Amino acid sequence: MDFEVKPTGSGVGAEIIGLDLSRPISEATQRALHGVWLEAGILVFRGLATTPERHVALSRCFGDLDVHPVESVRLEGHPEIIELTTRGRNTPIVHYIDEAPIVGRIPWHSDMIYTTQPCRGALLRMIERPARGGETGWIDTAAAYDALSPAWKKRIEGLEARFDFVTNICDMRFARTKNLRFGTMGSQDFGSFPPVAHTLVWTHPESGRKSLVLSPIHLIEMVGMPRKEGDALLEELVEHTCSGRFTYVHDWQPNDVVLWDNWRTMHMAFGTPEGLHRVVQRTSITGDREVGRILA
Ligand SMILES: [Fe+2]
Repeated sequence: MDFEVKPTGSGVGAEIIGLDLSRPISEATQRALHGVWLEAGILVFRGLATTPERHVALSRCFGDLDVHPVESVRLEGHPEIIELTTRGRNTPIVHYIDEAPIVGRIPWHSDMIYTTQPCRGALLRMIERPARGGETGWIDTAAAYDALSPAWKKRIEGLEARFDFVTNICDMRFARTKNLRFGTMGSQDFGSFPPVAHTLVWTHPESGRKSLVLSPIHLIEMVGMPRKEGDALLEELVEHTCSGRFTYVHDWQPNDVVLWDNWRTMHMAFGTPEGLHRVVQRTSITGDREVGRILA
């Protein structure tokens, strides 16, 4: 193996050391990286993706890449890369926490969990790091599942929750940020999606590991359970999962890449204080798995 694997120090995820992206990645190395990813769920590559080409070459080790349907967010010459920036382009989404304006805050979620074909995973590359803020966190929900008592595991097996496409984080029902006030939703058009139901526990089709499906931004209620009872169950599960015990927070440097398995993790963008600049680029691994059901 022409790389080393090191723990991140948080108990969640792993860091890949010594991988050389200046030359093509051999098939054996790709297979080995894929295996480590399945094992760890979250992989950190510090300072390695120095060009869009290296970012894409690394991303392809983990599957086919999506091309974003909205052309204006694609990076010119690299249709597999989208850029998320606080510089220009769209009016930013602004919220206030303790009356301080913050841009681009996206609390804990899994990508596209409000559909029946959630994204497989993604690789985020830091381009321009803000002087303050801008961190990203990940939660390994397989570790959170493993830490549940046998009674809890039995209690939630087969139960479903409803997930909606919620765009305003002030409308979240669970894991709400304290002292949060709405500013502006910006100028993006997000479209609309029908509500879906997912089981609270997923078994990973490749690793066989069980994980919790919670995505608090989108989490609305338990399906087929009185709201009060369902809310009490979900509040306890969300608190357990978001307690910090299963979390890795990345303090970015330029050209760092973090890869996550969207079928067993949640992530959170902490947001950037208004007036500071943050630019990241992202590739997304195609999810070909149909899961859950659309609710009538
Ligand atoms: Fe996301």
